Amino acid sequence: MSDYLMEMKGIVKSFDGVRALNGIDIRIRAGECLGLCGENGAGKSTLMKVLSAVYPYGTWEGEILWERQPLKAHAIRETEAAGIIIIHQELMLVPELSVAENIFLGHEIKRFGGRLDYPAMYKRASELMTELGMPEINVAMPVMNLGGGHQQLVEIAKALNKQAKLLILDEPSSSLTASEISVLLDIIRGLKKKGVACVYISHKLEEVVAICDTVAVIRDGQHIATTPMSELNVDRIIAQMVGRELTALYPKQQHPIGETVFEARHVTCLDLDNPQRKRVDDVSFELRQGEILGIAGLVGAGRTELVSALFGAYPGHYQAEVRMGGKRIDASSPVAAIRHGLCMVPEDRKRHGIVPDLSVGQNITLAVLKAYTRHTRIDAEAELETIRDEIGRLKLKTANPFLPITSLSGGNQQKAVLSKMLLTRPKILILDEPTRGVDVGAKAEIYRLIVELATQGISIIMVSSEMAEVLSVSDRVLVMGEGVLRGNFINDNLSQETVLAAAIDPAARVGGDIASATPPSERVNMESV
Ligand SMILES: Nc1ncnc2c1ncn2[C@@H]1O[C@H](COP(=O)(O)OP(=O)(O)OP(=O)(O)O)[C@@H](O)[C@H]1O
Ligand SMILES: [Mg+2]
Repeated sequence: MSDYLMEMKGIVKSFDGVRALNGIDIRIRAGECLGLCGENGAGKSTLMKVLSAVYPYGTWEGEILWERQPLKAHAIRETEAAGIIIIHQELMLVPELSVAENIFLGHEIKRFGGRLDYPAMYKRASELMTELGMPEINVAMPVMNLGGGHQQLVEIAKALNKQAKLLILDEPSSSLTASEISVLLDIIRGLKKKGVACVYISHKLEEVVAICDTVAVIRDGQHIATTPMSELNVDRIIAQMVGRELTALYPKQQHPIGETVFEARHVTCLDLDNPQRKRVDDVSFELRQGEILGIAGLVGAGRTELVSALFGAYPGHYQAEVRMGGKRIDASSPVAAIRHGLCMVPEDRKRHGIVPDLSVGQNITLAVLKAYTRHTRIDAEAELETIRDEIGRLKLKTANPFLPITSLSGGNQQKAVLSKMLLTRPKILILDEPTRGVDVGAKAEIYRLIVELATQGISIIMVSSEMAEVLSVSDRVLVMGEGVLRGNFINDNLSQETVLAAAIDPAARVGGDIASATPPSERVNMESV
């Protein structure tokens, strides 16, 4: 008799006749952590949606055995009752509900008589957030007031609150910081000790290596290999994923840096929930032409708030003076900002990036539709040509551009958002977590694109929680902590330790006055990183 907790055999899943999964076998033992790796669009999320009955029995072919019995679930409710709990790649929280209400959604604690027992739910929710290293989170606050990283932790808390025998984590760490990830990995280690099995999906392969016992790799809906971790390392996993050795992840290219073209002065953002608190406190900096400016810091440091304010998109009260070419510009709304050549690719693509009702192609040309309008008609041919060019340029994986954008894998949606913004030909491009959920191959393409844009003279502000990314791509790095600027470093062999030390040093503060900020050198040698 097999000692597997779960076995999937010959799973086939098609969408409109296109096969997304083409006969996949995976299996897992109790207490085992299985890494599921593959490029964007390989079929990882689809496979897990089959397992958790997001796609009910009958909408796919093949067989699932759960505790040696055939599993034919028609609804998520049934798989949850069996002990299969999934944390989806795209957050599923209800923005208006509180942290605690989200955690208990559908599983509310009730008093005798049926009334909701809020004190009990608040207490348990606080315990879960403390377990996740976030004791300071107010669990009565609506989740929409939290940043992306904290929302992700709420999603994880929600799953931990259910009785899992198999926990599926689909990209759980994409907006978490290094320390939050290490807390998460410790929690998974604890679950494994209790016999809980995990499927761990992440494009951050160091995490996969750190936590998984076995790795299954899929490519284009096909199972490539399942290998014990003892025989693997990051490079071997990549080779299995892409079917070739990936040479350079980070582009090494010098590019000229010109005069100051952009200034942010005295940016202050107030907390949505508590206006006494400043999420960003009097931050000023400048940016030169063709410069790639990385913004590092821990989640909650105020980075997203800062760049949203510059783009006129911060939802709360804020103050910001934005200057381009020495003149103050009106960037009080995204429309006004785009008119001046300022553009932003937001962190939360589901909420701010894509228009879910439109097709892939319509999303790509959305911001530049005017360019294809002749009198009152849209030049569909020219539009389609641009769309096809963009799809080719970013190697965006879609069967055709007329499919709904929501049918794309997470990483490919991110590429579509990037493409939409690039078509506006911005002078200043703000990228908030540009490679979130993007696979290694596509990451390399995005980095190359960023450097190429800088070479063309576009100035780039890149917020990123991935230290390797910040240090490899940026010419200069701003470090934020608790809403203030704690470091402003030329990236000349800048080390991770220096950046982290600044991020957590409560006494550090720079850049309140532009004149005192470190002047960037004329040229930055990318080779030195
Ligand atoms: N509802 C849908 N309609 C049509 N095609 C779909 C649908 N959902 C997924 N697909 C297609 O199935 C393939 C697999 O997608 P899936 O989301 O499983 O990839 P993934 O491996 O999770 O990628 P990522 O790393 O980007 O999250 C993709 O080509 C995707 O476009
Ligand atoms: Mg996915």
